[in-house]
Amino acid sequence: MRRYARITGTGSYLPPRRLTNNDLAAELAQHGIETSDEWIVERTGIRARHFAAPDVSSSDLALEASQKAIEAAGIGAQDIDLIIVATSTPDMVFPSTAAILQHKLGITNGCPAFDVQAVCSGFVYAMTVADSMIQTGAAKRALVVGSEVFSRILDFNDRTTCVLFGDGAGAVILEASEEPGILSAELHADGSHVGILCVPGNVSGGKVLGDPLLKMDGQAVFKLAVSVLDKAARAALEKAGLTDADIDWLIPHQANIRIMQSTARKLKLSMDKVVVTVDQHGNTSAASIPLALDHGVRSGQVQKGQTVLLEGVGGGFTWGAVLLKM
Ligand code: UT7
Repeated sequence: MRRYARITGTGSYLPPRRLTNNDLAAELAQHGIETSDEWIVERTGIRARHFAAPDVSSSDLALEASQKAIEAAGIGAQDIDLIIVATSTPDMVFPSTAAILQHKLGITNGCPAFDVQAVCSGFVYAMTVADSMIQTGAAKRALVVGSEVFSRILDFNDRTTCVLFGDGAGAVILEASEEPGILSAELHADGSHVGILCVPGNVSGGKVLGDPLLKMDGQAVFKLAVSVLDKAARAALEKAGLTDADIDWLIPHQANIRIMQSTARKLKLSMDKVVVTVDQHGNTSAASIPLALDHGVRSGQVQKGQTVLLEGVGGGFTWGAVLLKM
């Protein structure tokens, strides 16, 4: 009998400070940066984003989302035997945000905890790693989180990027089960595109060397994203012996509505089958897929037994898809 990793609970959290496009445009205007609600909505579909308070870190957002996922799964925090956090905005250089989260959750069972760094594809990478560890018997009950405070790495003098991103966290509990859960996964990276989306700075000799703010060639990222996502989705479907027609819900990385529309079109899915939350929180990098998944579950759209395709794309360049039964 195959041992599956099945989602038994989801949770998410957005920090309370919400800025609409008009709020952000007004703040940027004070520094001579011009943008507008019309431009942002038309080019991206984003209407608002949330920014964490200065003293709030990725592990704090992760804690809120994790507690909700743990409650939804009906388990106790001590039952968790693996923690993986996908983040590009960790609390510290080290230790991992996952280890910090373990302590904040009060977990004292010594379970492994580590971070996965695959930028906006981080959640599909983390789910794939957790799935593999559950399938091999290395873990029974994993907490998988995507959590980001991207506001910390935004250049608010660069209107081409600072209007796109926000902060937030999403989490799932993945449990070993004989009932189908994750059916297949497909991960990729192409490091030749490092420069199109990166934060080039690093910490060295007590100083930050290089630029610690996000740089993106938006058009290059857009073109790559729309050229790889449907292929990854198809490969995941093929591995599971399914086709486009079997997908009940597409839950894509929430970066830009136009990228989501393009992928849906290529997979012959109507937008009614796509969970869209980018309008409410912008691009939250590794947090965006679990945020959208939790929204889909809690709004009653995504139901037990349905077939769901998660797909992510981002810096690295990285991309991937996870196909699962809820
Ligand atoms: O999570 C990782 C994945 N990241 C992504 O998926 C991002 C992918 N890329 C994109 O979503 C899009 O490329 C953007 C939303 C970033 C940009 O949209 P675009 O349609 O490619 O716009 P563009 O870069 O071609 O810029 C068009 C115009 C330019 O003005 P000119 O040169 O035509 O006069 C920009 O200067 O829009 C201008 N512009 C803005 N105007 C108002 C750029 N940013 C802004 C802004 N407000 N915030």
